[in-house]
Amino acid sequence: MNREDKRNTLLLPAGPGGIAEAATILRAGGLVAFPTETVYGLGALASDPRAVAAIYRAKGRPSFNPLIAHVADVGQARREGRFDSRAEKLAAAFWPGPLTLVLPVAQGGSVCDLARAGLDSVGLRIPANGLARGLIAAAGGPVAAPSANLSGHVSPALPSHVLADLNGRIDAVLNGGACPVGVESTIVSLLGEAPVLLRPGGVSRAGIEHVLGESLAGAEEGIDAPVAPGQLASHYAPRAGVRLDALEVLEGEAGLDFGGRFAGAPGTILDLSPRGDLTEAAANLFSMLRLLDASGLQRIAVAPIPQEGLGEAINDRLRRAAAPRS
Ligand code: TXA
Ligand code: MG
Repeated sequence: MNREDKRNTLLLPAGPGGIAEAATILRAGGLVAFPTETVYGLGALASDPRAVAAIYRAKGRPSFNPLIAHVADVGQARREGRFDSRAEKLAAAFWPGPLTLVLPVAQGGSVCDLARAGLDSVGLRIPANGLARGLIAAAGGPVAAPSANLSGHVSPALPSHVLADLNGRIDAVLNGGACPVGVESTIVSLLGEAPVLLRPGGVSRAGIEHVLGESLAGAEEGIDAPVAPGQLASHYAPRAGVRLDALEVLEGEAGLDFGGRFAGAPGTILDLSPRGDLTEAAANLFSMLRLLDASGLQRIAVAPIPQEGLGEAINDRLRRAAAPRS
């Protein structure tokens, strides 16, 4: 199949039939977007450099950014990455779930160089979504997948978000409805002496530090480039400008509220969580940014979000959305 020449992206149903069809496409070197508990991933067989190259091309993603290899179980993860006792503890505590471990690549691992961007490490996770694990198992090997959006756009939490960016550019989307977590996985590097938080995400820093019994270094303290491209300034960017820590919504702005601060204000306002629940807010974040962006207003005013638990990941994504555009 000539992937430059796709016309229609199939929407495959949840269930065994859809999984089987999606796996057939992956095994033939195609691209399938699939649901995870965090966001939709754009999957290709991680062992197939041509298929992985097609991911970079479909997303318009700089090819030096490594991809996460999604695996179905811990046995498969151990064939790809070298586990130390810290990795064992974190895998036992948080997999399946929104945690990616960056480990030294295992001898005989199947994830191709291009998917690892030439690094001698590999990012691994087991997603907490039955369709995703079924697809990985049926594909017969790890599935490399970045978020299923055009590079620099907001991550997709629904099949319609995937299609808005990638319709006609990829073979299929496996329809798993909405992603419950809504922000990407937390990424922890276990390459060095100290564990390093490369990207805050769906598992809180405190949860990880509790399991490890030590604190996580920030990326800037512990690791040289290349770091997670989620750290690039304007990575999660809507078209509208974004104003953080807004105490009110000004003329010409849409409002992204938290905990009902903007209640009763006129204009276009969405509340991430009227009851101030950070888990609910994370799940709504990308959908609401897209909806407010579609309102056509010039700027989105965002209410303050507490920097605790999932709030760290939410604020990280919002700061990137607010960063000056390159
Ligand atoms: O929740 C998620 O993590 C979603 C779903 C689809 O699993 N995926 C996702 O992928 O957010 P992506 O490509 O948008 O972000 C993956 C991050 C990148 O910032 C990349 O640099 C980092 O993981 N990464 C992957 N392998 C790495 C490695 N060996 N060393 C350092 N960073 C790595
Ligand atoms: Mg992404």
